[in-house]
Amino acid sequence: MSRMRDIVDVIEGSFQLVGGDFTNAGTASGELRTVLLKANVQQDITRRAAIAAFEAEMNVIIHAVAGTFHYVINREFVRITITDMGPGIEDIELAMQEGYSTAPDWVREMGWGAGMGLPNIKKNADALKIDSVIGEGTTLEITIHRKR
Ligand SMILES: Nc1ncnc2c1ncn2[C@@H]1O[C@H](COP(=O)(O)OP(=O)(O)O)[C@@H](O)[C@H]1O
Ligand SMILES: [Mg+2]
Repeated sequence: MSRMRDIVDVIEGSFQLVGGDFTNAGTASGELRTVLLKANVQQDITRRAAIAAFEAEMNVIIHAVAGTFHYVINREFVRITITDMGPGIEDIELAMQEGYSTAPDWVREMGWGAGMGLPNIKKNADALKIDSVIGEGTTLEITIHRKR
């Protein structure tokens, strides 16, 4: 029975994200964290997924107009896919560098825009895919493998 559960159990969830909506910042990644804790996913996996998800969620709120946050948890991995409508990332390699940020002053005054989001996502993910089209938007696919 427990093996059966192992094979069929998939948990998924989706959220809408709104650019500039700092009031609800962290809602999507916070729910993912809660779900991972309830599902008894290994602590380190939960922590890494929550950090990466939070940074990616914040990037939509800081840099884009709107987006969707989707997560899948199965026995193999936790995967977070975040797609936004926004300016896109002109130079992904540059954006990945620690401390690089185009966040405007008013965002920095709120304490965001340290340029550590993407590097942190990279650090915490086992796999990170970034697709971005200038003037259209960005998609991040973050995967964290569950060690068994
Ligand atoms: N979803 C996004 N849409 C457009 N640009 C983005 C997005 N995510 C990141 N960027 C670009 O990459 C830069 C670095 O991102 P990040 O490391 O998270 O730092 P920060 O968000 O603090 O600026 C951002 O300043 C921005 O120029
Ligand atoms: Mg960021």
